[in-house]
Amino acid sequence: MVEPKAKERIPAHVAFVMDGNGRWATERGLPRTSGHREGIANVSRIAEALRAHGTRYMTIFMFSTENWKRPKDEVDAIFDLLVEWLSVTAPQLRSRGIAFRHLGRRAPLPTSLLKALDDICGQPAREDDLVLSLAINYGGRAEITDAVIKAISAASEPSAIDEDSIDLALYTAGMPDPDLLVRPGGEIRLSNYLLWQAAYAELYFSPVLWPDFDEEELARSLDAYTDRHRRFGGL
Ligand code: FPP
Repeated sequence: MVEPKAKERIPAHVAFVMDGNGRWATERGLPRTSGHREGIANVSRIAEALRAHGTRYMTIFMFSTENWKRPKDEVDAIFDLLVEWLSVTAPQLRSRGIAFRHLGRRAPLPTSLLKALDDICGQPAREDDLVLSLAINYGGRAEITDAVIKAISAASEPSAIDEDSIDLALYTAGMPDPDLLVRPGGEIRLSNYLLWQAAYAELYFSPVLWPDFDEEELARSLDAYTDRHRRFGGL
């Protein structure tokens, strides 16, 4: 058991990329779907650990607007796992202080997945809940494009558009920007994740594959965050 950290050293919002599920399975001679099953089970472990640390927002990149390029069998299996997890595990998390939000384009996600998302996201967050945002069919560029279109249609004239109006039109409207962005799995890139919101996020790249990313690796990433000096362009 890793001791939760003192509240003042804790990031309010931590974003993760779910990366390494397929390699986790391949290394064990298992089908990639087994890795996705392990990977989605790990979301609960990390969300509960983060809530115990005092973090208020967790966001996880689960399927990008580019992941449709993967084989159809794998995409279908991912959506089936998501529907199962949203229907069985997410309600258990909901009763333990974790609220849900979907970030991403709805079309062309399957109706069964949209219904499962709507069911769990429709239950409003309470004051002490950790808000777990699921980035599914999410792309940073798609989000900014959607936000610009929305901001233009809401603005009296183009010159009325500013950073605040775009911020309010993003899928993440009303949420604080991520303080810490964690990418397990060994790749050192953002892959179109939270491009606007991560402008001043601290980045933490871990070689650990997502299904193995446990409470101890989480504590290491939080320790690294604590040691950073954030300047936001100042001194
Ligand atoms: C970003 O890198 C990683 C993601 C968008 C997460 C992808 C994860 C899955 C598709 C598995 C999800 C499984 C379940 C059960 C929800 P990338 O791999 O899309 O991009 P890259 O090629 O730049 O690394």
